[in-house]
Amino acid sequence: MKQTDLLQVASEFGSPIYVYDSEKMISQYKRLTDAFKKVKHLRLHYAVKALSNVSVLRLFNSLGSGLDTVSIQEVKLGLKAGVSPENIIFTPNGVSFTELEEAVQLGVQINIDNLMILEQFGHQYPKVPVCIRINPHVMAGGNTNISVGHIDSKFGISIHQLPHVLRIVENTKMTINGVHMHTGSDILDIEVFLHAAEILFETAKSFKNLEFLDFGSGFKVPYHENDIETDVEQLGQKLSKRFNQFCKDYGKDLTLAFEPGKFLVSEAGLFLAKVNVVKQTTSTVFAQIDSGFNHLIRPMLYGSKHEIINISHPRKQKRFYSVVGYICETDTFANNKRISEISEGDILAFKNAGAYCYSMASNYNSRFRPAEVLWHNNEAKLIRKHENFDDLLRNQVEVAI
Ligand SMILES: Cc1ncc(COP(=O)(O)O)c(C=O)c1O
Repeated sequence: MKQTDLLQVASEFGSPIYVYDSEKMISQYKRLTDAFKKVKHLRLHYAVKALSNVSVLRLFNSLGSGLDTVSIQEVKLGLKAGVSPENIIFTPNGVSFTELEEAVQLGVQINIDNLMILEQFGHQYPKVPVCIRINPHVMAGGNTNISVGHIDSKFGISIHQLPHVLRIVENTKMTINGVHMHTGSDILDIEVFLHAAEILFETAKSFKNLEFLDFGSGFKVPYHENDIETDVEQLGQKLSKRFNQFCKDYGKDLTLAFEPGKFLVSEAGLFLAKVNVVKQTTSTVFAQIDSGFNHLIRPMLYGSKHEIINISHPRKQKRFYSVVGYICETDTFANNKRISEISEGDILAFKNAGAYCYSMASNYNSRFRPAEVLWHNNEAKLIRKHENFDDLLRNQVEVAI
């Protein structure tokens, strides 16, 4: 997308606003499938939590992708987007049994990460094949919030509990059709993936009716020019070879599954916000935008760094800024960043705003959540309207006091 197109989007639909480039999502999808082209049956399940707009889900469905979901609401969004239930995997953690029952009724693939739930499920639905999520006890991921496969993590069934899993399977006569793991996000080192994969292969040997092995996700994407990223091509070469060997030994061509979120949508998204005021203090120059961590929480939550470009004046002299929001708490997007000179009214574009940005947005400070636009076939398509005052009041019940 050209900067002029982005300015046009901001002027036509208003700011702040999220813009997603479908071409980038498509090319990332193709890049990952190409990397694993030596595997006979490959399946990508796009992780809905990253960006759950129904039009985006529809786009991935049109590419042949399935969906990875973590709540029954995500399942329903996927079905609404036209994805067939067998292409949706449901991997909840800590949900009530009724949510699993609902998922059974909807016909999606269920992934269980708790021994007690597995036992209950096996008793109640012995004929419904399930996948199990293991905890491989591998420390991986960009920071502690997104490292989920280690020994202290709440996710997955410990690999040391495998004998107990097998006992439940035997006693209930249930079928385990898949084994899954997800160790974390922002994993750079492919050796970490390969090490965890060996644990998954070892676990998988214990199950005789498998159809797929799901290696989760965690690919690190670049956040600025020349930034390092997971070498998915090299991972594809190495893991495909090992997977094909495993299938040979297992005696069946299984499906290799991944569930990428960030890899597919992070770089496709830009967040556009307008500069309300420029404020000089004794220590810095603040550029304050018409947004805050209510719309983009990742810098405050994870310390993630989104590159910021002044698309209204990209070629002015660069100056140092602290880019902050309008929230009543510290909401710093960037500190001491060199950005082309900013004036009030300029539009700033935040990069890598496709994944975990809109989907984590809130109404904090009673602000409206922004609109979303899909840039598709060289056209801006509004895929979510800006909220308005009625949206804030929608579920409030006013009582006489
Ligand atoms: C179970 C599971 N699968 C897939 C993902 C997607 O990870 P990423 O966005 O790093 O690709 C996550 C992220 O939290 C996850 O928890």
